[in-house]
Amino acid sequence: MSEQPKPPTGPPSGAPHDSHKQRAGDRLAALDELEVEVEKLIAGGDGLGRFEGIPIFIPRSAPGDRLRIRLVERRPDYGRAEIVEILEPGPGRREPPCPFFGSCGGCDLQHLEDDLQVELKAAAVEETLRRLGTLGDDLPSRTVAGQPWGYRVRTQLHIASREGVVDVGYHSRRSSEVVAVDRCPVLVPELEGTLRSLPGFLGEEGPRRLDLLVGEEGALSSAPVVPGLPHGEVRLRVGELDFGLDARCFFQAHRQLLPTLVETAVGSWGGGEAFDLYAGVGLFSLPLAHNYERVTAVEGDRVAARFARRNARSNRCKQLEVISRAVEGWIDELPEGAERVIVDPPRSGLSRPVRTVLGKKAPARLTYVSCHAGTLARDLRDLTQVFSIEDLVLLDLFPQTGHMEVVAQLVRREAG
Ligand SMILES: C[S@@+](CC[C@H](N)C(=O)[O-])C[C@H]1O[C@@H](n2cnc3c(N)ncnc32)[C@H](O)[C@@H]1O
Repeated sequence: MSEQPKPPTGPPSGAPHDSHKQRAGDRLAALDELEVEVEKLIAGGDGLGRFEGIPIFIPRSAPGDRLRIRLVERRPDYGRAEIVEILEPGPGRREPPCPFFGSCGGCDLQHLEDDLQVELKAAAVEETLRRLGTLGDDLPSRTVAGQPWGYRVRTQLHIASREGVVDVGYHSRRSSEVVAVDRCPVLVPELEGTLRSLPGFLGEEGPRRLDLLVGEEGALSSAPVVPGLPHGEVRLRVGELDFGLDARCFFQAHRQLLPTLVETAVGSWGGGEAFDLYAGVGLFSLPLAHNYERVTAVEGDRVAARFARRNARSNRCKQLEVISRAVEGWIDELPEGAERVIVDPPRSGLSRPVRTVLGKKAPARLTYVSCHAGTLARDLRDLTQVFSIEDLVLLDLFPQTGHMEVVAQLVRREAG
């Protein structure tokens, strides 16, 4: 279910150095299978084992597991492996509830108890922020979890067909082969319920990718247009606000945690002027417009920007202006010392020019909403030259996967 290419999570931790590392790397290169014990989870969800100090990343492993693994990638300072045999399971391992977990590439952590996933992911995100973000040990963080199953209101499916048989599902873990699924228990029931009927609408000549979104009362939106499937606007209510959008647009997927995410990001601060960058259909811009006299939303996708404007009108947010532009092309217009800025970039994080301008213009409060700990850490390393971290909230918007959403409240350091 990942929606964009994964940026690197940065160099592995604790890699050994110099000649010892060289020799260990040579020995690792000659190995096919080996036994390891898994130390912990890293951000993204892989387990970490070691060979003579060299980190080895093992998907679907659990801390405390003793495993026989097969190397699938060997680098001088790290390796990747798959599990051949679980010699001794770590505490908190369970039988994955979904029958497709072994083959489907959508989920990473179904083999771990739900509460343990949250605890381990939070520890992994914090470690990444401390290590790559050089943020020190006393991060002011807290974790919020919600419903672990039946939470996703949107999904991206892949389609393959051969000899008249149409498979609809997710890419397998190791390739772009389609694993056909007729159930997916992380989806809200209304969305999961559509899976069985989809092959009937998608013929040999149909699209290879299908985005689905479910709105209030089970209304479905799909993209691209497929005869027989609804493709128009649906409505989603978050707190007091009502958002219109269709399946082409980004929207946060965890239905039950949406109001908490909005409250955490927007907060109750208010005043004169606020900016919402990477605004989507206005999930944060509209509530900001309740707290500030003027709000500017910047969104690069024209369809999403159009919905954001319509959402502003239908929710009577007159003081919201939506600018349909890439943030990189707009950022120089951000006023010096603005009161409030929210950024919610894609997984690749903030580009260097955007980070530089945010540092120079130094808004009093900068809220950074991130779905990728590695790029957030990189960006915080720069931004904390100018801002201090007031609060970090880790929201488990993606149960059963290795991902976590982070809302960082940053405040400008006073000069002197
Ligand atoms: C993670 S989503 C956040 C959307 C919104 N804040 C929300 O929570 O619904 C990122 C949004 O940024 C937009 N986007 C991506 N790159 C952009 C860029 N360089 N400039 C402006 N918008 C961009 C995407 O179209 C998407 O709507």
